[in-house]
Amino acid sequence: MNTIEKYADRIEDGLQSIPFKKEPASLYDPCRYVLKNGGKRIRPILTLLGAGICGGNIEHSIPAALSVELVHNFTLVHDDIMDQADSRRGKPSIHKKWNEATAILAGDELFVQACSLLSGYLSDPSVSEPRFKKLYDTFLNSIHTICEGQALDMDFEQRENVRTQEYLDMIRGKTATLIAASLCMGGITAGADENQIDLLENMGLSAGMAFQIQDDMLDVMADPEKFGKCRGGDIRKGKKTFLTLHALEQSNKSEKHKLQQILDSQAVSENDIDQVIDLYKKYGVLETAHEKVNSYYQTAMNSLNKFGDSTYKQDLFKLLNFLKDREY
Ligand code: IPE
Ligand code: IPE
Ligand code: MG
Ligand code: MG
Ligand code: MG
Repeated sequence: MNTIEKYADRIEDGLQSIPFKKEPASLYDPCRYVLKNGGKRIRPILTLLGAGICGGNIEHSIPAALSVELVHNFTLVHDDIMDQADSRRGKPSIHKKWNEATAILAGDELFVQACSLLSGYLSDPSVSEPRFKKLYDTFLNSIHTICEGQALDMDFEQRENVRTQEYLDMIRGKTATLIAASLCMGGITAGADENQIDLLENMGLSAGMAFQIQDDMLDVMADPEKFGKCRGGDIRKGKKTFLTLHALEQSNKSEKHKLQQILDSQAVSENDIDQVIDLYKKYGVLETAHEKVNSYYQTAMNSLNKFGDSTYKQDLFKLLNFLKDREY
């Protein structure tokens, strides 16, 4: 087993040991359900490696890592309601298996569990008050930013002319900031200096931008079995993704009209999705997206390269390379 798998196992253990109560089952069963359904666990692994590369103790960063994964799951549960997405990690989303009210509450509970785990550092004599404040501020600011990104993501469904820069700001908010915060929180638990935190932040933001553009691509191109989400969910919901934006920008008048019609439709068919994919192919939109992804990962690796050599640095390279080629 390689070290990254070992970290993933440690995170899995930690998540499965979270003491959710038995009753009311309508609240805690969905929480257990979402945490049992897998997921790549890349954010908490980034926290552990962020701590390691800054000279910290991995075990000491576990509560921070778990809190990041809990927040991530909280955002997914609410995101699936917002996006009317019925499947997640190959299983019915909570709002589908139960109902929306249950999913809202389960999301809230996951968020509170994340906060309690982090509060544990308050009674840890090795964590000074300023360090705890920095940790908590990084955590809370990232959640503010996710909410802003998610608000823009929904606003853009109703808007026809979204600029590329607006899209980039939106994905920085909804996705990249939490990936950056995951690394930084690891660094902070390790007592990293400002320079190290800046490098971790830059690395996480670039990797996070790449990660979301890939997610936009996988939404149409991935094998739904592997990806675990419904094919073409973004097209069905009229999302402004890297792909839809570029296709809208480059297509001719009648193609643009057709694409806009599909994005606005409440009943998108499999054939509509295939037509949109044909448009992506015609204008080389997937290649453009791929180049953008590679360029963001390269920027992330440049930040990583500024750290001194360590096994954690090697593991982070491995993880970035794994993400670069991901199919789910
Ligand atoms: C999905 O994140 C949400 C995005 C930010 C694109 P992941 O792809 O990390 O989801 P899991 O946790 O592995 O299922
Ligand atoms: C992910 O955006 C952002 C958050 C969950 C905060 P998406 O809506 O694209 O994520 P998936 O594709 O549903 O996982
Ligand atoms: Mg969404
Ligand atoms: Mg979604
Ligand atoms: Mg998506």
